[in-house]
Amino acid sequence: DKGTYPFYMLKEVDEQPNVMRKLAQTYLSEHGEPNIDKQLLQAMEAADRLYIIGAGTSYHAGLIGKRLFENLAHIPTEVHVSSEFAYEQPMLSEKPFFIFLTQSGETADSREVLVNVNDAGYPSLTITNVQNSTLSREATYTLLLHAGPEIAVASTKAYTAQIALEAILAKALGELTGQIIAQNFNIRQQLGLVATGMQAIVDEKDKLEEMSSKYLLKTNRAFYIGRGIDHAVSLEAALKLKEISYIQCEGFASGELKHGTIALIEAGTPVIGFITQAKTAGLTRSNLQETMARGAQTLTIVRESLAVDGDDLVLPDVDEMLMPLLSVVPAQLLAYYTSLNKGLDVDKPRNLAKSVTVE
Ligand code: M6R
Repeated sequence: DKGTYPFYMLKEVDEQPNVMRKLAQTYLSEHGEPNIDKQLLQAMEAADRLYIIGAGTSYHAGLIGKRLFENLAHIPTEVHVSSEFAYEQPMLSEKPFFIFLTQSGETADSREVLVNVNDAGYPSLTITNVQNSTLSREATYTLLLHAGPEIAVASTKAYTAQIALEAILAKALGELTGQIIAQNFNIRQQLGLVATGMQAIVDEKDKLEEMSSKYLLKTNRAFYIGRGIDHAVSLEAALKLKEISYIQCEGFASGELKHGTIALIEAGTPVIGFITQAKTAGLTRSNLQETMARGAQTLTIVRESLAVDGDDLVLPDVDEMLMPLLSVVPAQLLAYYTSLNKGLDVDKPRNLAKSVTVE
């Protein structure tokens, strides 16, 4: 039931702070110790490489997961689009462990990979929002996202829930393998800060609606840019806008723009930059300048400690690794208001189904 909300998507965006709290309660003790199946952790620890498999938004959540598993647990991690992996499998390591990210647990492309993984006898984990879904039944282990039903076709709370659960898992694994960075990472406290930060952003709806009207409503082309983890969020931000507002939008590694794509920038093209990582903040700012010099209308979404006068949207500070949980929220709302004010059916965009059960 969407209650007083005009569309499920807005309700689901608003639910994200609570989803963060729910995940912390479910998978962490009061003191922050992980409450995760020991056998699962041991199976992951025994692997020499993790392979994250997903489609669409779930693939994008995997791109953040790679950073979390590599930083916190020091386990090399690859992320693959399921429809590609199924038919062109890369060379595997000796002891692979597979993580399937799938909100619905029914995506045919991802299931096809799991069937092959099971035939080969490799261990696997499905992270899903739907108990007893096909991928959860067929994998060795399952963890539930506890995000509550996600009805809108555009995935929002499942993305942030997947990232938060990957962070909990990476922290637990890192502790098991004795990584100091994992021991010092106070995940419980961080998820609390994330929940509060998300609330502050969803409380800024009017501002985001205004930004959408000013920069996105009348355009047919836009860019989200960033480096590293900000690039990964750019891909998700662009998918949201494409999917429900039908604006052609690319998520781009900001340093790569000048190698060709910058030719698309015209007077007024919106270019939105994510700046949440200290080591690349200056670079992304100069890449934004380069687009501005070609007529782009630039907008910045910046974490507080990196913000300067004139930034458009300032995000509360949480650990750098968890900034995607906050930076994606304004992008979800920008997509929502653009779709809404174009008079489109936000929850049911054309040509799309909630779960894609054909390959
Ligand atoms: O249920 P899944 O997570 O496996 O779905 C994967 C994609 O179909 C899904 O994330 C899709 O990209 C969303 N509509 C994006 O908002």
